[in-house]
Amino acid sequence: MEFWTGIESLRSQTGGDIADLLADEARNARLRARHGAMMFDASKTSIPTAALDTLLEMAAGVPARRDAMFDGAAINETEGRAVLHTALRGTRPVMVDGADVMPEVQDTLARMRDFARAVRDGSFAPNGRITDVVNIGIGGSDLGPAMATIALAPFHDGPRCHFVSNVDGADWADTAKGLDPKTTLVIVASKTFTTIETLTNAKTAKAWMGEAVADPAAQFAALSTAQDKTSAFGIDLSRVFGFADWVGGRYSMWGPIGLSLMIAIGPDAFDAFLGGARSMDDHFRTADLAENMPVLLALIGIWHHQVCGYPTRAVLPYDNRLARLPAYLQQLEMESNGKGVTMDGATLPGPAGPVVWGEPGTNGQHAFYQLIHQGRTPVPCEFMVAAKGHEPALDNHHKLLMANCLAQSEALLRGRSLDEAREKVAGKFEGAELERQAAHRVFEGNRPSTTLIYPQLDPATLGAIVALYEHRVFVEGVMLGINSFDQWGVELGKELATSLGPLVDGADASGKDASTQALLAQLLAWRD
Ligand code: F6P
Repeated sequence: MEFWTGIESLRSQTGGDIADLLADEARNARLRARHGAMMFDASKTSIPTAALDTLLEMAAGVPARRDAMFDGAAINETEGRAVLHTALRGTRPVMVDGADVMPEVQDTLARMRDFARAVRDGSFAPNGRITDVVNIGIGGSDLGPAMATIALAPFHDGPRCHFVSNVDGADWADTAKGLDPKTTLVIVASKTFTTIETLTNAKTAKAWMGEAVADPAAQFAALSTAQDKTSAFGIDLSRVFGFADWVGGRYSMWGPIGLSLMIAIGPDAFDAFLGGARSMDDHFRTADLAENMPVLLALIGIWHHQVCGYPTRAVLPYDNRLARLPAYLQQLEMESNGKGVTMDGATLPGPAGPVVWGEPGTNGQHAFYQLIHQGRTPVPCEFMVAAKGHEPALDNHHKLLMANCLAQSEALLRGRSLDEAREKVAGKFEGAELERQAAHRVFEGNRPSTTLIYPQLDPATLGAIVALYEHRVFVEGVMLGINSFDQWGVELGKELATSLGPLVDGADASGKDASTQALLAQLLAWRD
């Protein structure tokens, strides 16, 4: 069935009452997917069984495209590239242009392990044992390792890790303040090694290091596809970890871009992280579409955004260590599926990916949940929570965390009627004032949410969660007929920033629009 025709046909089914739908256990079971020790529950959504069937029919083209991706076909059709981040955590041979890519993947991984061990055990110590690692990168060369290093703090037994991404000098300055250049390793992470933010920060770091040590480049490593450029920067090839152009930036933390994480948690835990992602790959490749967790997550995404028309979705991990997961998923989803044309260049007849945002619970409850509960635009909420924390002595905290997570999805579902609201205020107010006060306390309810649960956040579970979302993005992209693996939308801003470079130095700005000229003139005046 043609995608947008299918979407149209589903619109008449959106009015269901979630509480009524939940009475059908057979439906609920179909909206629950399990993989390993993870369970994803989408039964608290308004999707009826018939609509799920239609969406599954609409996903009929996914398996062929999925197999093409895993097998190394050039499915990134605007850049003529394979899409093989799965090979970075894989074990099966994968042929690209007639050659198996796995020996090189394994070889690079082995070099990363050796280097990570040497940093961790002190045998790599050009000017003393490394106490701090600074990863300089941005976007996909930052968000993945930064997110995962925080997430896996209980497993972090290596040197301290810091992440500098913003070209704002404050980022570098605030990070460098507490560091000793003699015992700091700087990792420059850039797929292209041309990104202006990263190169600016890397040069500043090298100058900072050069004031304290004779050979600053000896305390630098590089993660890149461009070895000519890393060499030009002065980094010895023994500390350059390369990867191929078939790894997209936002899909790259499974390989060299994960080096800082590997140094933090050690090669064995990093292996477990890759293993968790691989197990999700295997599930995605082999489970029936109807029981396939990434497919179900994608169908729910399409139901909410394209069918129901909800413009955003919130990722709400009840896990403080997943604080950066919403930002990570923001890049993964919005850079991948924030597209306006189909693969063949035709304008998309409807919206592609939604706005993705979020914060960890319970903090968000005291900030933006007001709008989620009573605002007029429903926000599908994607909750996640572990059964156990890592602080047994603080298990009372964890029980409260779980209770809050479940309470929020229940509150969204059932809401509070006007009669219930009246009961709440009866005795305090009466007459018209009681009616007015009660109206403010009504919760519409019938608001959708999904919940992902797992026993405990460990490296394998984190790997599986991230791979789950990667494949969700893939399925949504295939169904929409877009290319999820390019990012032309970031180019124009980069080009204009280059053209503005001389203008912020005072060059003639008359070619710019009136607003830009006025802003520039005021900024320059304030610099005098
Ligand atoms: O500008 C977008 C982008 O290309 C992302 O896709 C990428 O993750 C990021 O910049 C960083 O790129 P690089 O790793 O080449 O420095």
